This record gives sequence, structure tokens and C-alpha cells, in this order.
Amino acid sequence: MLINTILVGALAAVAHAAQGTLQQMTGDFGPNPTNTFMFFYKPAQLANPPSLLVAMHFCTGTAEAYFTGTQYADLADQLGFIVIYPQSPDGSGGCWDVHTNATLTHNAGGDSLGIASMTRFAIDNWGVDANRVFATGTSSGAMMTSVLMGAYPDLFKGGAGFSGVAFGCFEGPDAWNEQCALGERIMTPQQWGDLVRSGFPGFAGQRPKVQVWHGTADTTLFPQNFFEEIKQWTNVFGYSATPISNITNDPQAGYSFATFGPNFEAILAQGVGHTVPEHAENVLEFFGLS
Ligand SMILES: *[C@@H]1O[C@H](CO)[C@@H](O)[C@H](O)[C@H]1NC(C)=O
Ligand SMILES: *[C@@H]1O[C@H](CO)[C@@H](O)[C@H](O)[C@H]1NC(C)=O
Repeated sequence: MLINTILVGALAAVAHAAQGTLQQMTGDFGPNPTNTFMFFYKPAQLANPPSLLVAMHFCTGTAEAYFTGTQYADLADQLGFIVIYPQSPDGSGGCWDVHTNATLTHNAGGDSLGIASMTRFAIDNWGVDANRVFATGTSSGAMMTSVLMGAYPDLFKGGAGFSGVAFGCFEGPDAWNEQCALGERIMTPQQWGDLVRSGFPGFAGQRPKVQVWHGTADTTLFPQNFFEEIKQWTNVFGYSATPISNITNDPQAGYSFATFGPNFEAILAQGVGHTVPEHAENVLEFFGLS
């Protein structure tokens, strides 16, 4: 038992150990009205051209915590993509601004504009393939993932969020939206879809694909948020709210993996609380990065 524990611990440590180090971009990377921080990981061997993954930490988290706590940098070593780890502004409690009108609106400001600037900087200066730019995150980082999908659909080709909420669910004067967190912000698919479409009025291009994960025992962001996200993204993509397939015990026991079409997947984890562990390989597969 003890030996097993030690072995599992050692394997987990190896799985998350990137060969290189996390770096900080200290120069100007573009409009950044809230002073978000740009950290990044560039593996020694880059694909030509490299893809980009923007990976966003949870509340009270840091770029370093998400770099060491997830498998993305290790997978970047194997696959040659670049990872940007944005870090929320000083004084934010480590949380992302996912509630202001500015952050929810294309090029209007807020933390989302700082992250969009980092992304544009990488495309313009690091030779990143603009057709292979993706975002992921956990909790507050998952909420920011949906913010980016709605406000910057021109920049991102896909997003995957672990234990987040629908785009705009936290909108309002306060950083914490209790009604949304409790799963009591209930709207129709049309209303949720309109909220996404208001993020970038007039956007007529292909929208980024979306994957959401949630636990049924989440008492921080209640599981009803998972079903509100389903209403939202099926409306945005014009899919039926009934999944095409819903496979139980996929990708592991207790999870159910629902597919609504090529651009939207929703995975529910029975008995899992806040947060659902990052399933990095499933995320990369969804993005076509693996
Ligand atoms: C949200 O921000 C946009 C862009 O700055 C502005 O045009 C719009 O009026 C704002 N909406 C609200 C409800 O404040
Ligand atoms: C998929 O099936 C599981 C198990 O029956 C269910 O709990 C879950 O709500 C379903 N997912 C969707 C998106 O309908």
C-alpha cells in the first residue's frame, strides 16, 4: 500500500515535469488595461509552425501553480506546441475578471483583453499558427475560457473548461455572482446564445469549438451550471439540446461523455466536486493537437 502510494506519487511527478522552465514576458505585449501577467512555456523542440494553448489558473492560483499542477507543459515537450500561462492581476485574489462588461466585450478591456493581447503577441512574434490557437482553464480559468470563446471568437479555435460556468453567467457589478454560483441563473437557450453573440456583435466567422467538464458534487459552482452551458453552446452552434451520443464510463469510471456535434462536448463526472481534474489528453485530442 505504502509502496503503491510512493510509486503513484513518483509517476504523477514525472508526468508533470516539463524539461524546461516557465518564463515571464516582461516587455510590452499589447493593450493590458488590468495588468495581467504573461508567463509562457516554450519547449526545446517546437513544431513548425507551433500551435498555441492558453492555460488559465483557478482562483487563488498562479501561472506557476497551473504550470506545475497540470500536464500541458509535459505534453508540449512531446508535441511541440507553446503554452501561455496568464496570471491574474495583483489584488484580484488570484481570480479572473469574468463579470465586467469590458471583459465580456470584444476589445473593450478587462482581463480578457490582456489575455487576447498575449495571444496576438505570440501569433505575431513567435510564428504561431493562427489556425491552431486554443484555451483551457479550471474554475475561474474555465469561466475565463468561456469569456474568451464569446468575446474573442476570431482569435480562438477552441476552448475547454473544467468546472466553470456559461459565458456571461457572472456578469454584474460584483466579482462573485452568488446566483450563478448556486446554479440559480436559469435562462433559455436563446437568451444564453444571445449573450454569447453580444460578446462580439457582428462576428460572422466560424465559432470556436467548446468542451465543458463538471462534477455532480460541485458545491462551489453548482452542477446546474453544466446544464446552462449545454443550453448556451447548443444554441450557439444550432445543435439539438439532446446529445447525439452520451457514453457512460468515458473517459473513466463515473464520467459520462456527451457529444452534441463536432463542435460541442459536455462531460459530467458523477460524485466529483470542485474541481474536475484536468484531462489534458482529452483536451488536446478535442483540439486536434495530439
Ligand atoms: C458594454 O461595453 C461596450 C463596449 O465598451 C459598450 O458599447 C456597451 O454599451 C456596454 N454595455 C453595457 C450594458 O454597459
Ligand atoms: C449523460 O448520461 C448521464 C448518465 O445517465 C447523465 O447523468 C447525464 O446528464 C447525461 N449527459 C447529458 C449531457 O445529457
